[in-house]
Amino acid sequence: MTQDEIEAMVARYPELIAGAEAAKGMGWYPSGGEVYKFDYMPTVEAVDKFRDYIFGGIGFEPADYGLTSQEFRPQYYGNKRPNIDAERLKNYLDVFNASIKKYYNEIITEHPSRLEDWIELVRESYDFGGQVLSATIRRHLLVTLIPSIRFARRAIIIEEMLRQYDVPMPRTIAEIGGGHGRVVRDLLTLMPLETVFYIDLPLNMILAARFLGHFHPGRVHLVWSEADEPKEGHINIVAPWLIDRIDTPIDLLINYLSFQHMSIDALNYYSDRLIRPRVQVIYHENRDRPREEFDLGAADYPFRDAFETLLSRSTGLTVGAQGQSLGVILAELLVRKNAA
Ligand SMILES: C[S@@+](CC[C@H](N)C(=O)[O-])C[C@H]1O[C@@H](n2cnc3c(N)ncnc32)[C@H](O)[C@@H]1O
Repeated sequence: MTQDEIEAMVARYPELIAGAEAAKGMGWYPSGGEVYKFDYMPTVEAVDKFRDYIFGGIGFEPADYGLTSQEFRPQYYGNKRPNIDAERLKNYLDVFNASIKKYYNEIITEHPSRLEDWIELVRESYDFGGQVLSATIRRHLLVTLIPSIRFARRAIIIEEMLRQYDVPMPRTIAEIGGGHGRVVRDLLTLMPLETVFYIDLPLNMILAARFLGHFHPGRVHLVWSEADEPKEGHINIVAPWLIDRIDTPIDLLINYLSFQHMSIDALNYYSDRLIRPRVQVIYHENRDRPREEFDLGAADYPFRDAFETLLSRSTGLTVGAQGQSLGVILAELLVRKNAA
């Protein structure tokens, strides 16, 4: 993505926020902590090198910046990340090394034939900023960073699981709550996808457009206002209030750690307007139980009755900032009941 294209997106951003404000009564609007995202106006530099800025809810955790959870609160949102000084370095390196060990072991145990793919997905660049470090994995010297190590497994697991359950490989996918676009990027690396619909809140939309545009120049298409029609063969970055514009069947919808933050209104919104009418298969990883009074556990998602559960397994315990148990994250593969 060129500097001019980033500048053009930043120039359009106030229009996106105005669109969100005008459409906030439709049901999609986040009820929880994510509302602070709407007050932040990104600069060209922050979009270009977004990993150098403190953005919660795009797939990065405090430890990914070498920060504590206190330093990651909404009041610091959009600040430049501090450099990792000597004091923070030890902790950062511990997390970095432990992540490589954990996820490398997982891939060679569960999907040994996919190790080379995994290494390619973990491989990073300095293009988006971030605390990039070098590592040697199976004699491959590369640079990477903690979230990339954590995320690389996801696309491989999806592909392997679809194969295992005889689900046709998707040509059209959608992701709701896609963070900065990492899983979409990784799936596009592994699979010959035709059309992608990425849906998230405005700040995430601009960061994902920048990230995906880097790997797929000319293929990112912004569906940010009433005047924008989604395009087949493109990576459509679709505003939540414009999802009625999507009128093609979606082979696979993915959702990671995002449905679990939504109110029943938001889940109904996505269920009624996108999932029930268009989606064949869902893969999601979300908490099995509610955390706030407005959110839902996975068993209560409003689209469940339209889908058969092919797989439901725990991926492990999830803990809150104070170390308290918040239940388990379920990985589930759901297939439309009337699928041919
Ligand atoms: C915890 S983050 C997870 C991000 C990414 N999927 C990951 O696994 O790292 C939750 C995501 O859900 C998105 N989100 C929250 N409420 C939303 C809503 N009502 N509509 C669309 N996206 C929403 C957030 O902006 C964020 O990208």
